[in-house]
Amino acid sequence: MAIIAPSLLASNFLNLEAECKMLNESQADWFHLDVMDGRFVPNISFGPMLIEFFRKATTKVCDVHLMIEEPEKYAEAFKKAGADNLTIHIEACRNLHRNIQQIKELGMKAGVAVNPHTPVESLKDILADIDIVCLMSVNPGFGGQSFIPYTLTKIKELRKMIDERSLNVKIEIDGGVTLANAKSILDAGADVLVAGNTVFKAADPIATIAQLKAI
Ligand code: DX5
Ligand code: ZN
Repeated sequence: MAIIAPSLLASNFLNLEAECKMLNESQADWFHLDVMDGRFVPNISFGPMLIEFFRKATTKVCDVHLMIEEPEKYAEAFKKAGADNLTIHIEACRNLHRNIQQIKELGMKAGVAVNPHTPVESLKDILADIDIVCLMSVNPGFGGQSFIPYTLTKIKELRKMIDERSLNVKIEIDGGVTLANAKSILDAGADVLVAGNTVFKAADPIATIAQLKAI
């Protein structure tokens, strides 16, 4: 069964308490929290301070997706804020292996995200050291974009790389996930579906989460 990770980026920030309550009452597994610095991506969202509030609002997994330069400078702050999973971008790290070790030493699950232009082969040498690969199925920076179809090929390639070595790495798909394409994404071999607009702009978000979960 897929792990469903609604992205709070698409939630109503004037009503965060109600949004968290809704997710807590739903079948959502993870809170996907998108941190953007205006340098790695052309948008700015929020930082550890808000993660601390989300941490207090839920016992579900806080899945923090850092779209920032120099993530090593902030790993400790995100741990203190309550992150369970910390995902950093391969394109933002000069010393990725060291940064992964830092995240694990801090006691968090380590994720590596790759942009649409980055081949999954570039993960080969660190795949055994990480818990999650976040395949970006849109260019990071904004919610509400369309799913890039080539991602399905990348999912299949990555699934093969993981299974051939019997590794315990989750494949997370982030960007443009809808009720219409979720099945093909899971059939290709994904484990985790991030969904922002599909969940929060739905007439009935709880039912939409249940529908994603039932696929
Ligand atoms: C994009 C973010 C995504 C985004 C997904 O940079 O990493 O998590 O919020 O939003 P949707 O599901 O609306 O594409
Ligand atoms: Zn994300």
